[in-house]
Amino acid sequence: MGLFKVSKRMEKSMNTFGFIGMGNMGYAMLKGALNSFSKEDIIFTCPSSDRREKISEETGVRFAESNAECANNAKYIILAVKPQVYDVVLKNIENVITSEKVIISIAPGITIDSIKGKLGGSVRVVRAMPNTPALVGEGMTGISYNKEEFTIEERDTIEQFFQSFGEVVTVPEHLMSAVVCASGSSPAYAYMFIEALADSVVKYGIYKLIFIYNIHSFYKVLICDRQCITLIVVNIFFALLCIYRSFCSFF
Ligand SMILES: NC(=O)c1ccc[n+]([C@@H]2O[C@H](COP(=O)([O-])OP(=O)(O)OC[C@H]3O[C@@H](n4cnc5c(N)ncnc54)[C@H](OP(=O)(O)O)[C@@H]3O)[C@@H](O)[C@H]2O)c1
Repeated sequence: MGLFKVSKRMEKSMNTFGFIGMGNMGYAMLKGALNSFSKEDIIFTCPSSDRREKISEETGVRFAESNAECANNAKYIILAVKPQVYDVVLKNIENVITSEKVIISIAPGITIDSIKGKLGGSVRVVRAMPNTPALVGEGMTGISYNKEEFTIEERDTIEQFFQSFGEVVTVPEHLMSAVVCASGSSPAYAYMFIEALADSVVKYGIYKLIFIYNIHSFYKVLICDRQCITLIVVNIFFALLCIYRSFCSFF
């Protein structure tokens, strides 16, 4: 597990990353990758020419006109598309995939074996589940792959890639669906929870910022404090209860 972000740039440019799909996750990972890799080592594509040009202008990263061109120009190919378009995308790239390349798949529910089944058994696949905090370099990614299929250098590059936008943990593939709940989808639930609490604070005439700052403090306690999480949660619960009671007595 990488505990610290790697900020040094790669010395060699032989490891090119090709992003297929530039939606929420593709864009977040591309932005993160630029923290550790040179823009010359990255290429991307997506169906919308407007979006391609906009992102290229913003980041300086070159784009490919098609999925096949993108995959052909990259060693590590990140499939940042929805599961329902996987079949189309895999078909687009099958002719340019060699045993030298590495497929990085971030779709929930799509197994390494199913990708191998479509692209050929010799293709190397990393199954990963990142999350949107990657956009600010604070992502959490669970990854799974057969280490024996990869060289030490490739394994380092894979770790370095995911560390470029946060933390990375390697888990057995059968736990990947649980990682979807633990980190892939959990930011959305946490944001909804925070938004609901913040809205209720506003209802009492208090600035949202007061509450949002507390979230930041809670996070720091969870990360730094060595107390057990249950105790912290109990403490937070009582703190919130006190805040709630003081509101009730105030109004
Ligand atoms: N969002 C998350 O929090 C999250 C977290 C972990 C994993 N994931 C997984 O990451 C993957 C991408 O999710 P997302 O949220 O980034 O989705 P998204 O915002 O909808 O982005 C999907 C991207 O794929 C492009 N695309 C669609 N059809 C394509 C095709 N045939 N060839 C190439 N590109 C194509 C889309 O272009 P258009 O917009 O022009 O159609 C868009 O740029 C999914 O498998 C998702 O389950 C998402």
